[in-house]
Amino acid sequence: MQGAAALDWDLSRVEGILAHYGERREALISILQDIQDQYNYLPPEVLQVVAARLGIPLSRIYKVATFYKSFSLVPRGRHEIKVCMGTSCHLRGAPRILEGLERHLCVKNGGTTEDMRFTLTTVNCVGACALSPVMVVDEDYHGSATPSGIASALNQYD
Ligand code: FES
Repeated sequence: MQGAAALDWDLSRVEGILAHYGERREALISILQDIQDQYNYLPPEVLQVVAARLGIPLSRIYKVATFYKSFSLVPRGRHEIKVCMGTSCHLRGAPRILEGLERHLCVKNGGTTEDMRFTLTTVNCVGACALSPVMVVDEDYHGSATPSGIASALNQYD
């Protein structure tokens, strides 16, 4: 029963997005971007609704969704942690930051915590080498990161 209620709530959000774009097929990418923003990923149930309403084959929607790196087909956490693994950060201890995060969050690189709070990923140089090693949480750059500072750095994200 609780699942059905959650699904109704979810679908009401996609209805709003479809209405905003007038259910136009050519707005597919914008519609998927809004869905990604709303749900933090592209839920399969929602993609089925989009396919039916726009009259587009579901396979085409998946093709678009997998082509763009910004779309995710699996649930993601409310906050994304990106550990920079570029050369400068790597040399200054990024692997230890990643290991520390994996231990602290109990997830592997690419994983999402059970409470959906964080998704942990790695990236190449984020352009802040002077601050290396760097981890980026959402839009916040945390420079000179240390394994012992991980817990306090993440405390501010609920
Ligand atoms: S290598 Fe990490 S910011 Fe450049």
